[in-house]
Amino acid sequence: MKKRILTGDRPTGSLHIGHYVGSLENRVRLQDEYECFFIIADYQVLTDHLRETEKISKNILEIAIDWLSVGMDPQKSAFFVQSKIPEIAELTMYFSMLVTIPRLQRNPTVKEEVRATRLGKTEMTYGFLGYPVSQAADILSVRADLVPAGADQQAHVEQTRDIAQSFNKTFGRVFPMPKALLGEFPRLSGIDGQKMSKSRNNAIFLKDSPDEVARKVMKIYTDPTRIHATDPGHIRGNIAFAYLDAFDKDGAEVRDLKEKYRKGKIGDVAVKQRLIEVLNKFLDPIRERRRELESNPNLVRKAIISGTHRTQKEAAETLKLVRNAMHFDYDEIFSG
Ligand code: TRP
Repeated sequence: MKKRILTGDRPTGSLHIGHYVGSLENRVRLQDEYECFFIIADYQVLTDHLRETEKISKNILEIAIDWLSVGMDPQKSAFFVQSKIPEIAELTMYFSMLVTIPRLQRNPTVKEEVRATRLGKTEMTYGFLGYPVSQAADILSVRADLVPAGADQQAHVEQTRDIAQSFNKTFGRVFPMPKALLGEFPRLSGIDGQKMSKSRNNAIFLKDSPDEVARKVMKIYTDPTRIHATDPGHIRGNIAFAYLDAFDKDGAEVRDLKEKYRKGKIGDVAVKQRLIEVLNKFLDPIRERRRELESNPNLVRKAIISGTHRTQKEAAETLKLVRNAMHFDYDEIFSG
């Protein structure tokens, strides 16, 4: 029996190159070795976009297109929509009894998100504070073993393990202890050096055109101490080099560029020109597949529908085990 993966994204817009090196790359790579379930987490969108629900449906398709365009394969892996699996909501209910409020308040990713949105503690909803519980239900609804994700998701996987452990201890073993799998570059910064995110306007998206990529690369934060191209430059914290490290397959060339940069023998513009080339070469085949998909929306819909059906079967299995372990199936009342 293959081990299982569950991971995914919130349908709030397009995926960016940080998602790629943080998680998408691992998803594509592990599709044969693992049985994969990829979640489009629409419940989770409600936590901070409650007044824009009319956009979710289109964004679900956007996410699926991004996934298909990088090579996630619906023949191998199940793409599914979270809210179409009612078992996830049911599991969230049970799990909410196994986690304390202070434990949720300690979650560093939730804390960071509260800071980023300047959403004071008093405005925080029960649903927002509790979304890691719902995420634990996502992961455990298919009894997943592995969660390929970026660094910001690690706290949620830890929370999931705590919940799984607490459930197993209370009711008997039903759940595995899932582990996070970080990508090779789990914390790729945005072009301004801050955390890459859609809302910060600092992301390079998988669907950006070659011109958009060029324009964004030219704005990249490099070395603030360097005024002239002949000044010795710094590599650490230099986003142009962080991106070259992540995307330039020619390691020797990157080492050579760094060497010259440190000695003040090459300017920012030359480094950025190289980076534009490298990124566009990486993105070209992805763009090509996107064009094909955009003219074939039924293919995208079918991928989501079939994956959702498959996940429904697995989640139903899990919930049978869960209710049974909890003596919550009441067969003596409801069967016969
Ligand atoms: N929180 C994730 C994000 O914002 C999305 C997500 C929802 C997820 N459920 C998940 C990721 C389960 C991994 C596993 O990107």
